[in-house]
Amino acid sequence: MKATFDYTGAAVFVAGGTSGINLGIAKAFAAAGARVGVGSRKREKVDAAVAMLGSPAGPALGYTFDVRDQEAVAAALGAFAAEAGPIDVLVSGAAGNFPALANDISANGFKAVVDIDLVGTWHVMKAAYPHMRRPGSIINISAPQAFIPMAMQVHVCAAKAGVDMVTRCLAIEWGGEGLRVNGVIPGPIDGTEGMARLAPDDAARARVASSVPMARLGQPEDIAATCLFLGSEAAGYVSGAILPADGGWSLRGAPLG
Ligand code: COA
Ligand code: NAP
Repeated sequence: MKATFDYTGAAVFVAGGTSGINLGIAKAFAAAGARVGVGSRKREKVDAAVAMLGSPAGPALGYTFDVRDQEAVAAALGAFAAEAGPIDVLVSGAAGNFPALANDISANGFKAVVDIDLVGTWHVMKAAYPHMRRPGSIINISAPQAFIPMAMQVHVCAAKAGVDMVTRCLAIEWGGEGLRVNGVIPGPIDGTEGMARLAPDDAARARVASSVPMARLGQPEDIAATCLFLGSEAAGYVSGAILPADGGWSLRGAPLG
């Protein structure tokens, strides 16, 4: 049965929405009629995303910021709301990852990932909060590392576990004013930077694919569809959920050892 969602006229901001899974999410909201805003560090990625994300609601809006810079994030979210109106859906998905053993991760390496994934998500949510429409929907992009301990991923596991707890705490604090706060756990998504870093060759990719109960890698569209659902009235009573969209992958435990 085909699922369709109508976001005509909605304002949707995707932090880290300039490549991979998050760009797929931004594309899906634009295709469903939303006015979309995206932001990330690299101007050329922002410009390329903006060029492909226009919708009948208006041209896409792009901002260059590092999620570690609270003031820059606040300025971008304020500018987006001033142009596009109150934010109906916020997606927070900027993240960094590299595979490394704990003994090979410096204090700054650990901090970089926690600052981008966890503190960055906090900055994005806090910056969006005064500009959110009520009712509205906040979706944090997490990862299986949030609840599956993995070798070579201690920094990411710690950061994403924190993200999921922020999601659930703010679902409690903000639920009464009509803000639903949920998380999405993508499985291994084909053709993305995250997959390239954790499964860099065809053999590793095939191993990961065969470990998915649904026997295929995910596509960005799989995660985008989950976000379209969570942003919509169909999920009107869903809050504080951490929803895996992973073909059952996380049921198998620690894929990296
Ligand atoms: N192994 C061990 N340490 C590493 C590393 C690796 N493969 N890659 C980076 N680091 C360390 C650096 O050595 C540095 O620590 P140091 O100052 O003690 O030497 C620290 O991490 C920060 O590196 P830097 O390049 O300055 O960080 P950055 O803030 O510019 O970039 C990263 C952040 C490291 C997460 C980078 O990989 C990134 O920008 N990632 C975004 C894209 C991505 O990861 N996509 C997948 C999402 S799941
Ligand atoms: P990606 O293409 O590298 O996406 C990361 C995005 O965040 C990019 O747009 C990047 O743009 C931006 N970004 C990175 N650091 C930033 C910073 N400090 N400030 C602002 N923006 C920043 O990676 P992806 O693999 O698609 O991953 C997207 C999300 O899905 C992440 O949250 C990741 O943890 C999650 N996830 C991915 C997989 C997977 O299989 N790929 C699996 C589980 C979870 P700039 O470079 O321009 O900053």
